[in-house]
Amino acid sequence: MKKFDTIIKGGTIITDMDSFKGDIGIKDGKVYQIESDLKDDAEKIINAEHKYVIPGGIDPHTHLDMPFGGTYSSDDFNTGTIAAACGGTTTIVDFAIQSKGKTLEEAANTWRKKAEGKAVIDYGLHLAVTDMNEDVIKEIPFRIKEGYSSFKLFMTYDGLRVTDDVLMNTLIVVSENGGLTGVHAENYYAIKYFTDKFKEEGKIEPKYHALSRPDLVEGEAAGRAIKLAKLVGAPLYIVHNSCEASTSEVKRAREEGYPIMGETCPQYLLLSYDNYEEPGFNGAKYVMSPPLRDKSNWPYMWESLADDTLQLVATDHCPFFMKQKEMGKDFFGKIPNGAPGIELRMALMYTYGVVEKKFDLQRFVQVTSTNAAKIFGMYPKKGTIAVGSDADIVIFDTNVEKTVKQEILHENVDYTPFEGFKLKGYPETTMVRGKVIVENGQFVGEKGYGEFIMRESPMII
Ligand code: URP
Ligand code: ZN
Ligand code: ZN
Ligand code: ZN
Repeated sequence: MKKFDTIIKGGTIITDMDSFKGDIGIKDGKVYQIESDLKDDAEKIINAEHKYVIPGGIDPHTHLDMPFGGTYSSDDFNTGTIAAACGGTTTIVDFAIQSKGKTLEEAANTWRKKAEGKAVIDYGLHLAVTDMNEDVIKEIPFRIKEGYSSFKLFMTYDGLRVTDDVLMNTLIVVSENGGLTGVHAENYYAIKYFTDKFKEEGKIEPKYHALSRPDLVEGEAAGRAIKLAKLVGAPLYIVHNSCEASTSEVKRAREEGYPIMGETCPQYLLLSYDNYEEPGFNGAKYVMSPPLRDKSNWPYMWESLADDTLQLVATDHCPFFMKQKEMGKDFFGKIPNGAPGIELRMALMYTYGVVEKKFDLQRFVQVTSTNAAKIFGMYPKKGTIAVGSDADIVIFDTNVEKTVKQEILHENVDYTPFEGFKLKGYPETTMVRGKVIVENGQFVGEKGYGEFIMRESPMII
């Protein structure tokens, strides 16, 4: 009987606090020992010399197999998590969305069924409240106890959006029961005004999706949600901040000492409004909400990530084939909103964050893994490499150079918004609970290996 199942040998271990050379002994899916030099007493030895050994990525904002805009996002929990794993992500938190007239429990069960037997990495679920009533309020404490410790409200989208009273009530009940409320912040009425106006004027091309949702649409809603959270003394998480208008609201509230947190996504750091001007119907590739912003926002967004105004980078992965996007060929309002990104998050953040000196290796680990684990109640089981933690580990090869092409990805969709992007460094090996599921970039895992994560209360960071 060997002492360990696996030893990862000779790599440079990077955590949110530290970088050091060492060996990691893994047993029963957990990190068992970390030493500068472990004796080769293991079933399997993985050589990580000259490579970084980092906590597996955590992407707390994905939409797999999601009904949206009259169709479904094209990655399900199998294809989507395979793509995630190949990109160095070992945990996702997806959104279970309440159907009108149904309970949160039904939403949770529906999404558990979508994931079970399919996911190849571990997953948690946020609950998206779309139809609030007395019974739903009463349900919330029970759902939190079952591991659904975070909630999400859409301030826009017909059929999903909630009004400010619902937002306030949810903030109160969720926080009283140790959970966290998140919002998609955009002003519904402003969007409706511009959308109707453009339609009437015959302005129907994809770029008018972006022009109907200017920065202030997001800034206003983020500011309003933050003020409501302040009023009722609840913590709040703002998803997919795209621009200075919303991020500056988060910044101000944090400076005042309020428990407000937020994320951005690679697309808001690396793509811009200019993409909507691509010829033909190409602009539809980038139709997402909030939309891509003017480039002038980039420095502010990178800085916000570096200085902890924003705590992490998620993807909002919500892919649709171009055929699906064509539902909006005659009117931008009918283009399903969302774009792929689950596979490239880690590599993009390493190249454009660390290599381009926007932040250091510790911040890279914080924004891609540790902070998501903390905020969404999974730390220290997930989000770090420490004795007792799940052995969710990525061996990252900083010497690999790649140019992004749709063909090299595993996402179930026919384009990537990051086509042509140069990458320096890429995940080589991905391990989930001690099992190697990606080896030399090839998926070698097993359908259904992923487990549901019962999440605890958020940490306010
Ligand atoms: O356009 C987007 N972001 N689609 C996914 C749903 C959402 O708003 O997060
Ligand atoms: Zn050597
Ligand atoms: Zn959203
Ligand atoms: Zn989303």
